[in-house]
This record gives sequence, C-alpha cells and structure tokens, in this order.
Amino acid sequence: MKKIIFSGIQPTGLLTIGNYIGALSQWKELQKKYFCIYCIADLHSLTIYQKKEILNKNILDILAIFLACGIDPENNILFVQSHVPQHVQLNWILNCFTNFGEIKRMTQFKQKMSFHKNINIGLFNYPILMAADILLYRTNKVPVGKDQIQHIELTRNIAYRFNHIYGNIFTIPKKILNHNNGSCIMSLTNPQKKMSKSDSNKNSIINLFDNDDIVKQKIKNAITDSDNPPSIKYDLKNKPGISNLLAILANMTNCSIEQLEQNFKNKNYNNLKESTINHLCLFLNKLRKKYFFYRKDEKYLKYIMMNGSKRAKKHANIILNKVYNIIGLI
Ligand code: TYM
Repeated sequence: MKKIIFSGIQPTGLLTIGNYIGALSQWKELQKKYFCIYCIADLHSLTIYQKKEILNKNILDILAIFLACGIDPENNILFVQSHVPQHVQLNWILNCFTNFGEIKRMTQFKQKMSFHKNINIGLFNYPILMAADILLYRTNKVPVGKDQIQHIELTRNIAYRFNHIYGNIFTIPKKILNHNNGSCIMSLTNPQKKMSKSDSNKNSIINLFDNDDIVKQKIKNAITDSDNPPSIKYDLKNKPGISNLLAILANMTNCSIEQLEQNFKNKNYNNLKESTINHLCLFLNKLRKKYFFYRKDEKYLKYIMMNGSKRAKKHANIILNKVYNIIGLI
C-alpha cells in the first residue's frame, strides 16, 4: 500500500512564490510515489475575518491553482476542510490531549499576537486543528515550509500522548521540507523575514499573479548587499538577500545552488537578478495560462470539491470511529 501524504493551504489572498516553492512544488512531485490528500484549509482562514464573497472566490481560486500546478484530483484527494466535519470533531478531542503550556509556546501564535488587533481563540487553537487534519488520515508525511515545523512537532507530541494511553491509534507523521533550499523563501525587502502573503508591503512578495513588469520591478529592487567585488554565494548569515535570490532561481530552474554559484562566478548582482526575472516570468506565465483554463470551469471545480470531500470523509471516518470507541464515546 502507498504511504500517505497530507498537506493544506489556507485560502487567504494570493499565493506567493514562497507557497509554491515551499509547498506546492513538493506536492506535485510527491504524488508520483504516495497517495496524497491535499486540503484547502478554509476553517483555518477564519482565524482572521474574511468577507463571505472573497472567501468563496478564494476557495475556487486555490483549487484551480492546485490543478494548474499539476496535481491530479483523480488519483489523489483534493477537498475543502469545512466539507469534512470530522476535522472539527477530532479537533475537540485533541484539545483535551494538548497542554496549555505547549500551545502557548507556538511562535507563529506569538508573532500573530504582536500584530493582530483581534486575538481570537481560533488563532490559539489553530495548531490543534492542524493536528486533527493530519492525524485523521493516518498520514506518514507532511510536505510544508519551515514555518510549519513547530506545528508538526506538536502534532507528533499529541499523537504520542494519545497513543501512550490508548495504544497505536494514530500514525506519527514526519515533515518533508523542500530539498533545494526552498523551505523558507524570504521577503525581498527584508531577507531576514519570511515572504508572507499577508505582508502589507507588496514589494516584499512575488505573488503567482504578478505580471512580467511587476516581477521585474520587484526583483530589481530586491535587497542584496554591498560586497565589493560582488560575490554570488549562498550564505544565509552574511548574504541573506543573495541567498534568497539563489534559492528562488534554483527552484525555478531545478539547478542546485552549487551549480548556480558556479554559473555566476565573476558575474554581478544584476546578472543574477536578470536570470531570476526571466525564469520567474516564464514559470508564472505558464502557470497562469493553466490556471485560467481550469478557473473558468466552475462546474468542474465544484465536482472535484464534492467528490474530494466524499472520499476524504470515508478515510476520516475510519480513524474518528476508532478514536470515539477507544475513549468510550458510544
Ligand atoms: P499557509 O497557508 O500559511 O501556507 C501554505 C504552505 O506554504 C508554505 N509557505 C512557505 N514555504 C516556503 N517559504 C515561504 N515563504 C512560505 N510561506 C508559506 C507553508 O509552510 C505551508 O506549507 N497551517 C497551514 C495550512 C494547514 C496545513 C494543515 C498544512 C492546515 N492544515 C495540515 C499541513 C498539514 C498554513 O497556514 O499554511
């Protein structure tokens, strides 16, 4: 039997090249070898207020992006989290197996606390819902970006704790990170910070819908350094801007960083930027073409969602029933 992959993305705003490199590009590769279950995490997105029409539209947009990225809805399961109520049911049970102290330590929550006005309990509970997402499907591996590592660790701890009391109910999942230095693509204007779709400075991010002119302008203005002579080397500590451009280019071209360092020996930062612009534009134009092809067929998108949730529910029910039985719910 094939091993199981589970991952999710929140339908909030336009996806960035960071989401693609850190998550979606892996999703596509993994479906060759594993049975993959990919989820549009709409319940997670409610932790920040969403307008109804925009959320509706974002869900369909993201599904069309999945398809444009080459994810096959027939051999895998693509579904919307809120269509499978078992996630929320397991979430409650896992709440009762999670310590207040461990959830308080989540760095993403602490960061969000510092810049959101509306600190709701959903924001706090979010990693436990994510644990429910993962554990419901006997997931072996979870492809994510670096920012989600702590949440996967928490998931593992909750699963160990539960299994310790009740036996081997949950599979203990492992993370998978992009293996070509792409597990954390950084902001273009501040390469010490993650590129994030919620960044208010749009010059910091390349989103998947940026046209050629915008990509050009953003990469041209990306922060580098003032080393003289210029040196195109991957060095996260001393050259975070250059390292970030190298990571983006490596993932757009499928070249290793070492290969790129070799290619750009004795070249200047402008050369690196030009090449990054060309490859990004090429990639984004192709992706968008496919996206528009799928996005216009809402009937097909809705069919995928319906079919996906039906299949997801079947899998989720098996584990949820086991959990209910073992803890004594009749
Ligand atoms: P979300 O929607 O914030 O991000 C989706 C995926 O993109 C990755 N990512 C990045 N990777 C590299 N560089 C970046 N700059 C970058 N920005 C984002 C994220 O790590 C993530 O893999 N909680 C999750 C969604 C979720 C989930 C799950 C994931 C819900 N349930 C179960 C895995 C398993 C989230 O908010 O991702």
